Amino acid sequence: MAAPDPKNTLIEPDLQLAANGGLRHLLTLDGLPRGLISDILDDAERYLAPAGALPVRSGALAGRTVGNLFFEPSTRTRASFDLAGRRLGADVLNLDVNTSSRKKGESILDTIYTLEAMAVDIMVVRDASSGVPAYIAQHVADHVSVMNAGEADVSHPTQGLLDLLTIRQHKGDIAELTVAIVGDIRHSRVARSAAEGLRALGVRELRLVSPPSLAPDPDNVNGAVILDDLDEGLDGADVVMALRIQRERIGNLEGTPGVEEYFSRYGVSRARMRRAKPDAIVMHPGPMNRGIEIESELADSPQSVITRQVTNGVAVRMAVLERVHRTLHGG
Ligand code: CP
Repeated sequence: MAAPDPKNTLIEPDLQLAANGGLRHLLTLDGLPRGLISDILDDAERYLAPAGALPVRSGALAGRTVGNLFFEPSTRTRASFDLAGRRLGADVLNLDVNTSSRKKGESILDTIYTLEAMAVDIMVVRDASSGVPAYIAQHVADHVSVMNAGEADVSHPTQGLLDLLTIRQHKGDIAELTVAIVGDIRHSRVARSAAEGLRALGVRELRLVSPPSLAPDPDNVNGAVILDDLDEGLDGADVVMALRIQRERIGNLEGTPGVEEYFSRYGVSRARMRRAKPDAIVMHPGPMNRGIEIESELADSPQSVITRQVTNGVAVRMAVLERVHRTLHGG
């Protein structure tokens, strides 16, 4: 029998939640209850240490094994899942995809079953094809959880959670905020997950700002304001999130401005930020194209919370790893 096509895998509403409502897998923020999102953010706060102090550790995952399976490049997400697992006391396996048997044509499911047979309890998966994390979640054993660590242009839920945590820390109640996400919205899993999380927490206004060629599907924006004028998008904003131009997904998209034109029209800079509120924060998920979607000096300025996002990424990943473990094994 031919293997099912991951692209045709839909996320059933109850696939990521256990019967008792606990987090079983983390596949998407879409449809995740507001209370559960807030609880994860609260848990993450407890995994943050004061600047300069040793990282917070726990033995919550002692004896368990976390497997990192990144079939696309990553620095932040992979390193932070690695550190998160170790700081919770787990063994962490970082599969080197380039030298793995996937290169010899082994299927994704055979790879998963092989790791299951080595007692990997939590599979952290990044893949360029949509549907892969849910497809794996449908096939793993009952005691195994799956974390979506970045799925095509569809979803990046732990990035969404760390963005929510960062916004909440700096700006308070998300229901009071105007958030502008700027750049390559069409190809951005970061924008999708941020929008899902912000909506779940009742954001006052969400603006999606991009050149028309990189705008989202208008049938799929759930009340966000779509703009192609950066100044309009930044006007009075509390939070400005610049996105990376996804060169690997864009190809030669007709109508996309060249680099210099892009920066002059859509680059977030100190001068353009004068349109936002004086205490607005600037975010970027990384990796940055300095001088293209964000001015280098702004990225390094006091308005920038980009390194804070990275720090929060480890704490959020500790919180979700610990939570799926608790759902399956108690404690
Ligand atoms: N933000 C993010 O996903 O970065 P990496 O690709 O480095 O993991």
